[in-house]
Amino acid sequence: MSNDLSKACQILKNGGAVAMPTETVYGLAASIESEDGIHKIFSTKERPFFDPLIVHVSDAEMASNLVMSWPKIADILAKTFWPGPLTIILKKNEKVSDLITSGLDSVGLRCPNHPVAQELISKMGHGLAAPSANKFTKTSPTSSAHVKDEFGSDVFVLEGGLCEIGIESTIVGIDGDNVKIFRPGKITKDDIENALKTHNYDITVEYAKSPVAPGQLEHHYMPDAPIVLIENDNQLQSSILSKDLLRNPVHWTLSNNAAMVARELYAKFRDLSKDGPSAIIIHVDSKTLDDQSWHGIWNRLTKAASFNLLSK
Ligand code: TXA
Ligand code: MG
Repeated sequence: MSNDLSKACQILKNGGAVAMPTETVYGLAASIESEDGIHKIFSTKERPFFDPLIVHVSDAEMASNLVMSWPKIADILAKTFWPGPLTIILKKNEKVSDLITSGLDSVGLRCPNHPVAQELISKMGHGLAAPSANKFTKTSPTSSAHVKDEFGSDVFVLEGGLCEIGIESTIVGIDGDNVKIFRPGKITKDDIENALKTHNYDITVEYAKSPVAPGQLEHHYMPDAPIVLIENDNQLQSSILSKDLLRNPVHWTLSNNAAMVARELYAKFRDLSKDGPSAIIIHVDSKTLDDQSWHGIWNRLTKAASFNLLSK
């Protein structure tokens, strides 16, 4: 085991939290068996206790030990997409504390596809709770440098390079034959329906309408400068944009490659707000709105934006 990994295990065993890389974003991890560690996550992130954490596991077997039952649908999704960017919400059992789930009777489970995260979980031998390693409502980190910018020397960071996917996992809730997407991500509704269909489950996956957890509330992922979403330059004349906001803005035009945009999205939010611009004006092509591979990106963009001038 590398020195850094043994140091991380030591911190976790002593009731601390460490930052770990995953393929989506960096997470701030603590042992699910340490109440102190879980408290440390909430205090470091300044996250309110009413926002539940997801639990990271090595495999489906570890996940199935944390829930009341491991339904066939969960097994199909885990076999198809794990390790990978899918979080599965199921009814929890007593091994998962109410502190982790904010009192909900369900828990989000995810098996990350990153060798460092995998090794850390295996060495610990049990699940790690980990939200994204950023202050509450702020931009998620996709590099170790982002985490260090956010928390300074307060948090030990395991190096894992740049996150390949760049936006957080797709969250899917399973309740009987009812399968709902709570947060869109790289794994799309079609991906999930197709995986189920292959195993003879002809299920229409819905998008959850009302937020069941505060992480799904309106403003999130926000960089320091206000974001304005536009699809043509004329919209900058809109009366809702003050002169002050347009004093010294920076601009970013999104490419049409969803995977690339997702990968660089949060780094761009950080880079573009660095010199204190009055606004970040993001030029988008609203045709991509209906494309499932863009849903995760649209979800993050609209939650991060202070002004959304798209006609749709
Ligand atoms: O890709 C990811 O999922 C990353 C990496 C680190 O794994 N993690 C992540 O965690 O994005 P976090 O805490 O930033 O976002 C998890 C979201 C939150 O919005 C939380 O409210 C929601 O999942 N959540 C957690 N448990 C839930 C539950 N039982 N029911 C509904 N939503 C839940
Ligand atoms: Mg987060």
